[in-house]
Amino acid sequence: MFYDQFMNPVVLDTPISGIRLVNSWESKIPLREQIHLNIGQPDLSTPAYIKEAVVDALNKNLTRYTDLMGEEYLRKAIVAFQQAFHNLTYSPREVLVTAGGQSAIFAVLKAILSPNDNIIIPFPSYPPYINAIKYNDAKILSLETMVNDNFNIDAGRLRSILENEPVKALLLISPGNPTGTIIPKKILQEIVDFSIEFNFLIISDEIYSDIVFDDLAYQSIASFPEAWERTIIIQSFSKMLSMCGFRIGYILAPSPIIDQIKVIHHTMNICANSLAQYAAYKALEDRIQLKRSISELVKTYQDRRDLCLEILMKSDTFSISKPRGAFYLFPKVANLDMTIFCKWLKYNYGVTIVPGSYFSMEQIEGHNQYFRICFTANKEQLNLGMKKIVSALKKYKKT
Ligand SMILES: Cc1ncc(COP(=O)(O)O)c(C=O)c1O
Repeated sequence: MFYDQFMNPVVLDTPISGIRLVNSWESKIPLREQIHLNIGQPDLSTPAYIKEAVVDALNKNLTRYTDLMGEEYLRKAIVAFQQAFHNLTYSPREVLVTAGGQSAIFAVLKAILSPNDNIIIPFPSYPPYINAIKYNDAKILSLETMVNDNFNIDAGRLRSILENEPVKALLLISPGNPTGTIIPKKILQEIVDFSIEFNFLIISDEIYSDIVFDDLAYQSIASFPEAWERTIIIQSFSKMLSMCGFRIGYILAPSPIIDQIKVIHHTMNICANSLAQYAAYKALEDRIQLKRSISELVKTYQDRRDLCLEILMKSDTFSISKPRGAFYLFPKVANLDMTIFCKWLKYNYGVTIVPGSYFSMEQIEGHNQYFRICFTANKEQLNLGMKKIVSALKKYKKT
């Protein structure tokens, strides 16, 4: 049977994320000796007090559908948390609890995009956005960012895109995946001004907002009073508390927007997992444990970032922008196609990293000279992994 004839051509045309694809690449190194630095999956355990809350939830028989929007106690806790940690003001009516940030992304894009709508994405970016936009037959306008500008958005380039065609939305990820860049206040202000001048929505993926290094203060674009009413925030518990498998995220937006997204969310999920909602509530409710857990986690990732940078910077092969948040490094090696190198590296050295081109659109040529490292492995593995990357590159350049 030729099954493609029955499939949606758009789906046939959208590959699985490259972040996962690299797992299928061959290696001559035995699996137990390989070092996997490709998936943004925290290796740290979920804090014990949150795990205990799942058991509590079961004992309380919380096994029914919840409110479509998410349990009210969780939405209230999210509101209080966002106010206290990020100075953002929302009401529980403006919070929609989702099955992870990923389903938030899908629901938001489905709710706002019609065929042929334009959406601007600064690249490199998180690949599932590309697929989700394609499923809506909308058009991505790419805004290139580069390592020598610390992956910052250039206001002049943004303006020239906006002057050319009407735009429905701009998508920001800060701290960024794959770059770890935090968008500075000055650029946020420029974006806010543009959003008013050109009348578009801002989708702000802030799932790494609590993994911020060097004691920097994270500022959400929704904290600009003029931007609040046109911003949709995507959030998640996955990374900030090592809760990826819980599948709990949420959307913050004005209630008329939430009401529309809720319809999509209902169609996709009915509601988020009831046990995980309770655990997420407990995670936020105990402020002392919450603060302790986040600060330990940030310290761990910051130490790892510093270790990776120290090893890579000793070699003059890489251009690197120091990540200020999240847990990714996105170095560049000038004039080398990293897609070919990354495959070769995995085969010969057993280190799995992701080529930069997987975080971009095909037409952005230079992005194939980058690669992404996740520092979601312990220091011993990272130390070995970085050293292998450096020596592999030396050898590769000679071949
Ligand atoms: C920028 C960004 N947004 C959203 C997600 C989805 O995360 P989750 O669905 O686990 O909340 C990820 C996962 O890596 C991500 O990097």
